[in-house]
Amino acid sequence: PNAMVIAIDGPAASGKGTLAQRLARHYGLPHLDTGLLYRGVALTLLDAGASLDDEAAAARAAESLIADRLADPRLRDRAMGEAASRISAVPAVRAALLAWQQRFAGTSAGAVLDGRDIGTVVCPDARVKLFITADATERARRRHRELEHRGETTTLAAILADIEARDARDAARSTAPLKAADDAVRLDTTHLDADEAFAAARAVVDRAR
Ligand code: C5P
Repeated sequence: PNAMVIAIDGPAASGKGTLAQRLARHYGLPHLDTGLLYRGVALTLLDAGASLDDEAAAARAAESLIADRLADPRLRDRAMGEAASRISAVPAVRAALLAWQQRFAGTSAGAVLDGRDIGTVVCPDARVKLFITADATERARRRHRELEHRGETTTLAAILADIEARDARDAARSTAPLKAADDAVRLDTTHLDADEAFAAARAVVDRAR
């Protein structure tokens, strides 16, 4: 494949989003945070007063997801990550969003996508695959800082519980579970700051160019 597709996966709050954004800017590629699609489906259901357990409604919301929705600041709320994780286990939801993501990845000279199943399912032929990890307590600390910055008050313990429950659910689902592709390069950022993680990721990409 000639296009420069960079697939970035990892658990919640691993720093993959920030990293994906920086790589996209550096290499001049469009970036898609695929978690926003799942969050967008969850928000559509909640706004319509539908239950998160209503799989048919979730599938319809995924099929008609409007791009405008993806700019809603409520998508970043803590509760929306949990809601997204619940509806993301529905196969029909994943199928509807798959086409959307593959169209994004297939246009122009390449793209950077981040999520849980980019290297395994969405872009199995990606030029570069990174799997970003960090200890759960470190991830909880980062997410806590981020949420405080946004004015959401929560305890570190609550966030850690959140993150661990979400990772367990994402890794256990039968359709496209959270998992590193066999050919992914693993990057543990527990002891790296954002600049160091960016430098390490760039080295991997430059080797593959
Ligand atoms: O990455 P983010 O935390 O925004 O994702 C929210 C939820 O969406 C995840 O916990 C996961 O359940 C789901 N998701 C997914 N596949 C992706 C991206 C996100 O299942 N590619």
